[in-house]
Amino acid sequence: MSEGKYNFDEPIDRHGTACEKWDFLKERFGQEDLLPLWVADMDFQSPKPVIDALVSRANHGVYGYTGLTQQYYDSVINWYKRRYNWTIRKEWIVFTPGVIPAIDFAIRAFTNPGDKIIVQTPVYYPFFDSIESNGRQVLENPLKLSDGRYEMDFEDLEKKAKDPRARAMILCSPHNPVGRVWSKQELTKLGRICLDNNLLVISDEIHSDIRYSGIVHTNFATISEDFSNNSITCTSASKTFNLAGLQISNIIIPNGKIRQDFLNSVSTMGMDLPNSFAATAVQVAYDECEDWFEEFLKYLKGNLDFLKEFIRKEIPEAKVIEPEGTYLVLLDFREIEPDSEKLQNLLLREAKVAFVKGSVFRSGGEGFERVNIACPRSILERALNQVADAVKDY
Ligand SMILES: Cc1ncc(COP(=O)(O)O)c(C=O)c1O
Repeated sequence: MSEGKYNFDEPIDRHGTACEKWDFLKERFGQEDLLPLWVADMDFQSPKPVIDALVSRANHGVYGYTGLTQQYYDSVINWYKRRYNWTIRKEWIVFTPGVIPAIDFAIRAFTNPGDKIIVQTPVYYPFFDSIESNGRQVLENPLKLSDGRYEMDFEDLEKKAKDPRARAMILCSPHNPVGRVWSKQELTKLGRICLDNNLLVISDEIHSDIRYSGIVHTNFATISEDFSNNSITCTSASKTFNLAGLQISNIIIPNGKIRQDFLNSVSTMGMDLPNSFAATAVQVAYDECEDWFEEFLKYLKGNLDFLKEFIRKEIPEAKVIEPEGTYLVLLDFREIEPDSEKLQNLLLREAKVAFVKGSVFRSGGEGFERVNIACPRSILERALNQVADAVKDY
């Protein structure tokens, strides 16, 4: 139950807003009658000051070309200083209309067709599209699952890093979908291997704000001067404040040469200015909405506890991979149905829920499903009841 100043229990009807999660179920899953807990946005409204600022900006009525002001940069810099003690210089911050576009720009700027890019599977599937649609190759460094916890396989990473075509690594930190918030020690080991083998680290930290109590996130670039100079850190307020549809992210690139090459790649695509609303929303969110976010985290923890308890009692054959961060939770259904296609059919046809099927995350994903718990608890409860009923009869 929502207990604080903000009401996260209230369901918001998103139908009819061209909402990717709710309005395109037929296109994405082949059927409409589904409860959607898939794509990574929240079913909550953004905080009120953000809504008010956007309404006020909309009322102005002129939506011409828009730049980024000093106040905008200050908001971003202050957020990272306050929450991570990371001192970011203004000139390090590069605008892109999203983290996936940034990863695409980086791939084009720093690798050549045929080169290999390392990713740690099972992992966020658009990484594969960014790599392969640009004619590069995915080099998998699979994560190891032991006792319900995912770990990096450094021995395998050492081997893959020595591949003569390997050029870069996309680090997912925190990791979607396995929910790990990598420790400083793990990141240091990874960073050393990448440095020793001349691999650029593209650190996707889009989920870094969203962590469960006591878990600390280390920004990869803060570990050492060498790491700072060999990395591109992708950040955004979009997961934190539910702003993904506004399409703005801040890419932090301390190394001047890498930054210039990246900027050339961005301007080649003509994407160097944000839309008229995005910066306003981010600025107000970072400056005025931290208390909303802290309450959201408490509600989210309540959802996670609810999910764990429900699965333990009602679907004991399934296992929850306990996340340290992100609002995405990986469920291990292998005891029920190890084949991803059959499992997905069971969830779609019988349970009538849309989760993300594990096989899209590639190696290690078969028999798993990813569920998005950033929704009112009543929706999560309905979805889980539907799954429990479907699984009982299977
Ligand atoms: C790890 C990760 N990176 C990037 C994105 C997408 O970022 P954007 O919408 O800014 O392109 C997501 C969204 O789910 C994500 O989970």
